[in-house]
Amino acid sequence: MGLNYYHIIKQVREARKLVIRGTSNAGSGHPGGSFSMAEIMGCIFFKFLRYDPKNPLWEDRDRLVLSKGHASPGLFSNLAVAGYFDKSEIETLRKFESRLQGHPDFKCPGVEFCGGSLGIGLSFSIGMALAARIDEKSHRIYTVIGDGESDEGQVWEAAMTASKYKLDNLTVFLDRNFIQQDDYTERVMPLDEILVSDDISEMWKDAARWKTGDKWRSFGWNVLEIDGHRVEQIIKAIKSAQQTKGTPSMIVSRTIKGKGVEHMEDNPKWHGVAPDPKIAQIIDLELDCQFLIAPSIIAGDMTNLGNEVKQAAHGRADFIHLDVMDGQFVPNTTFDHTKIKELRSITQIPFDAHLMIKEPVKHVRNYVEAGSDIITVHAEVCDESSFGEIHDVLRANEVGVGLAINPDTEFPNWAEKFIPTIDQLIVMSVVPGKSGQKYIEATHEKVQKISRILIDKKFTGFIEADGGVDLSNVGSCFLDGARVFVGGSAIIGQKDVRTTITEFRKKIQQARRKLLIQKAHDLGGTELVNKWIDLHEVGKKKIELLQIAKEAGFV
Ligand code: DX5
Ligand code: ZN
Repeated sequence: MGLNYYHIIKQVREARKLVIRGTSNAGSGHPGGSFSMAEIMGCIFFKFLRYDPKNPLWEDRDRLVLSKGHASPGLFSNLAVAGYFDKSEIETLRKFESRLQGHPDFKCPGVEFCGGSLGIGLSFSIGMALAARIDEKSHRIYTVIGDGESDEGQVWEAAMTASKYKLDNLTVFLDRNFIQQDDYTERVMPLDEILVSDDISEMWKDAARWKTGDKWRSFGWNVLEIDGHRVEQIIKAIKSAQQTKGTPSMIVSRTIKGKGVEHMEDNPKWHGVAPDPKIAQIIDLELDCQFLIAPSIIAGDMTNLGNEVKQAAHGRADFIHLDVMDGQFVPNTTFDHTKIKELRSITQIPFDAHLMIKEPVKHVRNYVEAGSDIITVHAEVCDESSFGEIHDVLRANEVGVGLAINPDTEFPNWAEKFIPTIDQLIVMSVVPGKSGQKYIEATHEKVQKISRILIDKKFTGFIEADGGVDLSNVGSCFLDGARVFVGGSAIIGQKDVRTTITEFRKKIQQARRKLLIQKAHDLGGTELVNKWIDLHEVGKKKIELLQIAKEAGFV
């Protein structure tokens, strides 16, 4: 079974958009803490939680308790995406007589706990877990608490109790975003060892010195520590918690408050402030600009692909791009599903398998069983029927559905019916068959054209740029509409993979900033450009954005 990776990140993107829509419409609310837990909520709702939106009180449902109740927009948005109520209802947030108030209450279907006063949700969850045991029920309780919330003494009373009663049907996430109400947690009430660096907004990056997990271990909990924005790590942690018997599990999740919107990230101001409606339109575009880096390992040592995977994982790649070549569809042969199976245990980072093989419909199940998380097949060797079969096999196994087209292939008419459910479209910018080739310049226009067509036809997936992508053209590829970037010789072929991936991210971020400044200018001229730039208060962001705006002639 795959990660269901694309399904989850598309739902998370939709939920974040609803948080912005709801809070900007209400003129108040808590976007920051809704965004730090966004991937956690997405994995719980769209990979593990058993529920029926049409029967919210189904007695065997799993329970999700949002103890940090102020992040209610982050809960309501997921309930809407999950189908409990129409997404448009988010616009009633905090309005008189709405079911969606500033803090959750039972008027809203799917709400299990009236959060608001902090520190109580974990105790409430313990009651639910004990009741499930007494009633001999197998449903699970998932609870999300905040780090600021952990200043409440009742959290620690609950920590003792859950351990005493060995509540292994309880999985708790600590949304460790290092910011509470109006300042950084470590300045208000340190949960970790006193930090020496004064640039406290960056401190979450030095997780090695954390002690929060030790506190929960000392209370007898099973503790896992993860990057709370990495879907694959969240999923692995929940699976581990489910297999742990005789003790409750605490998943300490390093997160960024305001994650996904650059000016909100790591900025205490966005704990409880809503974005201005004009700014919300720019943020909506920003949430469509999430991007992923997918190093292609065949650009490395073919005799030691395991090490190439390790390099990419150490470099914090988002995907591992696996180029399968059968010597028939393309002249070269690289490896097949047996190699993928061998590499699988090295990392939980999603495997992005690019099948350059003939008759993929005959072999696709082998690549699912080998542990691929996304499988892309070529349109040149498919038709509506065979791709339909591949599509159904992949969706049934929670594997991302990918279609690839060569430089001289247009998007096929037979594939139009699949557009709403294709997760990834690879637009090849080299003739497939080997890495190290030069980017075919005409691909820029081709991607721009296809991107426009796909958006009109309700494509919610990601366009992957594959072939000859490097630091000189990746920004342009982003502006064309690509959101996943394969780097073979430009990443894996480099000496320092980790630094190169960071440089790729910086280049793409530069292009994204330029796109958003352009959007601000389109919406409101120089005045809105300056307003947008002024929002970026943390670190050096404002200076960098001003430079971009100057070069674009907007200020
Ligand atoms: C080519 C492959 C690409 C290639 C990328 O057939 O599909 O993924 O390995 O390598 P570079 O980035 O070097 O072109
Ligand atoms: Zn490829």
